[in-house]
Amino acid sequence: MKTKIIKLKEENLKDQLGLASDLIKKGDLVAFPTETVYGLGANGLDEEAVKKIYKAKGRPSDNPLILHIGDFHQVDRLVKEVTPLARLVMEKFWPGPITILFRRSDLVPDIITAGLDTVAIRMPENYYAREFLRACQIPVAAPSANTSGRPSPTKASHVFEDMEGKIPLILDGGRTGIGLESTVIDLSSNDPILLRPGGVTLEEIKALIPGVKESYGLVKEDGFKPRSPGQKYKHYAPKAPLILIEGEREDFIAYVKGLAGSEKIGVMTFDDNLKVFSKDLVVRSLGPRGDFDEMARNLFDVLREFDQAGVSKIYGELVEGEGLVRSILNRMLKAADGNVISLKEN
Ligand code: TXA
Ligand code: MG
Repeated sequence: MKTKIIKLKEENLKDQLGLASDLIKKGDLVAFPTETVYGLGANGLDEEAVKKIYKAKGRPSDNPLILHIGDFHQVDRLVKEVTPLARLVMEKFWPGPITILFRRSDLVPDIITAGLDTVAIRMPENYYAREFLRACQIPVAAPSANTSGRPSPTKASHVFEDMEGKIPLILDGGRTGIGLESTVIDLSSNDPILLRPGGVTLEEIKALIPGVKESYGLVKEDGFKPRSPGQKYKHYAPKAPLILIEGEREDFIAYVKGLAGSEKIGVMTFDDNLKVFSKDLVVRSLGPRGDFDEMARNLFDVLREFDQAGVSKIYGELVEGEGLVRSILNRMLKAADGNVISLKEN
């Protein structure tokens, strides 16, 4: 199959989205931009179409998908009820980077929910995403448009890397604004739980739901039963092992400089460190130190750059903090499979 990339342009948008939505209605896959990461879309009510998503991504079949909608009223048919709490979150954060779990209706195919009794729904804010979803008129199932386990795509070229020959169309809406996936919150019971930190921060949610709990599945205790199947799987991982270093900037520099050897080593750091390492290291910056929006936007792109450079190990600076930093740290720890070296004195 030949994979076409269409650069979205306002003056051609109607035709471009007409073509894309026709493919969706026919049961084909279309990758599209959102404000978080690129999604790999299919008609969410068509089981055969949704099967193609699992195949193209190599995604385990017990990992459920998010249904994307362009208008509020689309929720009603997909869920048993919209609880007052869910209504509150929808009104505050939709359209936007938060996915809500509801009790599913019978209309939702089993393949979407992987047999669970909840369904994940999100209304993206990105202009192209909303216009695309409105042109489709049906809920569009869309995981991130990467091969399972790889860093999520924040550019059309990332989608092409992973999906070339597997899908007919990629809609190119430029670089995504946030760069990390949506926050996932379970509001299907009276016990609200955050399952994935993302574009909407814990602090923003706590302002609305002070009693919200968190369950991210980062700690793999014996008998840990993930509430979200996606928590079981390796995620966002570059090809080379990533090791995160916890400590001061100077300690990180000294540690990396001390890594003698013949390996080709990648260094994930910030702008201020771009010139401090020797030329045989592959140094990539996540942006200015302390600029967390920029860091979120760059993280997956930088991880993919290390793959391209063919490094055999990557050393990265660990970040700590609140707000979006929690979401960044969550992705970093997953990409590193929890591999952290602490240089902190205590
Ligand atoms: O920002 C995003 O959410 C992007 C864009 C394309 O919208 N999509 C995305 O989808 O990140 P995906 O499939 O890569 O991640 C969805 C996560 C998975 O960890 C999955 O296990 C979880 O949401 N999930 C989906 N439905 C669920 C359900 N019914 N119960 C628990 N977890 C669910
Ligand atoms: Mg994903």
